[in-house]
Amino acid sequence: MITCFMTIHKIMIVVGTRPEIIKMSPLINEIKARKYELQLIHTGQHYDKTLSEDIFHCLSIVEPEDNLSVGSEDTVSQIARIMVKFDLIINNYEPDIVLAQGDTNTVLAVALTCAKKGVIFGHLEAGLRSDDLTLPEEINRRVAAIVTHFHFAPSKRAILNLLRENIDPERIFLTGNTIVDVLKQNKELIENCHTPKLKDIVRFLGNEPFILWTLHRNVNVDHEENLKEVVKVLEKLSDKKMKVIFSLHPRTEKMLEEFQLMSKLENLKNVLITPPLSFLEFLNLLKKCSLIVSDSGGIQEEIVTLKKKMVTIRNTTERPESVEMGLNILTEIKCEKIFEAIEEQLQKNIEQLEFPSNPYGEGTAAKTILDTIEKKGKKMGFKAPSLLEKGLKEYKLQVVEKEEKVSEVEKEKKEITLAFNEKGIPIAFDKNTTLKRGYHVIIKE
Ligand code: UD1
Repeated sequence: MITCFMTIHKIMIVVGTRPEIIKMSPLINEIKARKYELQLIHTGQHYDKTLSEDIFHCLSIVEPEDNLSVGSEDTVSQIARIMVKFDLIINNYEPDIVLAQGDTNTVLAVALTCAKKGVIFGHLEAGLRSDDLTLPEEINRRVAAIVTHFHFAPSKRAILNLLRENIDPERIFLTGNTIVDVLKQNKELIENCHTPKLKDIVRFLGNEPFILWTLHRNVNVDHEENLKEVVKVLEKLSDKKMKVIFSLHPRTEKMLEEFQLMSKLENLKNVLITPPLSFLEFLNLLKKCSLIVSDSGGIQEEIVTLKKKMVTIRNTTERPESVEMGLNILTEIKCEKIFEAIEEQLQKNIEQLEFPSNPYGEGTAAKTILDTIEKKGKKMGFKAPSLLEKGLKEYKLQVVEKEEKVSEVEKEKKEITLAFNEKGIPIAFDKNTTLKRGYHVIIKE
């Protein structure tokens, strides 16, 4: 291979949470297949085995080379710790490009570190916006966008969001979402998944319809009154003999214990609580359930691809496509509201709905992302604008070629905003000042 200093050789991928590992998996496989030098780094933001280690096995992806083990301390220390540790990783591996996905603290910390180190950063799932700056994820996304070199947008809507924020269109690439690649590539594995855990669940369900349930966002689970509302809904569903499989996120489990609500849940006959399921187990159930109730972002994309019904316990979403397609209802975290939405969704016949083509693409996102990196490579590094060569769009820097008064120059609808003498020192001037040859002026046109 002919080596070129503008070509990318060393690609670094950084993940921190369950969905980032899942959604990066097709890209990791594509990079390996094209024989690039790949360094996979885990920040350890999610450290529970079920949310981390198990996913690498389940999706047969290479294990990370380094784990920064930052844990789940408070947000600010977590971001700071990732930055300090990731700085050393960059020094050590000297990647040509770093890629991260989504809107976690990992993404924010990695994007900022790359910016400070002058390393090219590519953002997968760029351009999602909820326009809700009370959500930590929205802040992460927006701040990361400012310092991103490659914005890999999963949908046309994401492109519009980025343009709205004045992101340079030359840096935005429509790729689709890698979750579609994941679902396509693992279709058979999902359908043929027969783990012991899944067998137990199937035994519990018999052949009855069921609701799949997850919940993990801080805004929902960190407040006792919210979790009480959720437990009330589950009690009501249990009374109605509707079966529910509740995949319990470690954070939710901790909070349920803390608010002494766990035993209430465990007593419900029609609710089966399970630790987080593997991705294949979870998707197997998602395909079979009558409805999914969750506050997850990623699941909202999965139902668009699989055409499933959902109730999302959130007031806003950065992924409105499922709502627009008639598959999803957003609801606040109040028992009656959630219950109403569930009943409405259970009665809805989605067979009659007409769906547009998948807004998240057709499952070629990983390939498109890598093609783009191959084509554009290091050329995408930021360059300082050269005022001396071109000036800004409206302000032009010009050399005075013949001696002339300011009023003469300004006759032609021009305005001189700054003038410098032949040594480059700014000078005070008015309409009567004579500009000498060799002076520089900045002209507003
Ligand atoms: C998470 C982040 C979000 C980020 C996004 C994408 C948090 C709190 N949120 O959102 O900021 O933008 O990832 O990077 O971390 N699943 C299983 N087993 C289960 C339940 C779910 O494998 O038992 C799978 C789902 O199929 C889906 C993924 O996990 O693929 C969703 O993960 P989730 O933890 O819900 O995170 P998100 O809300 O998507």
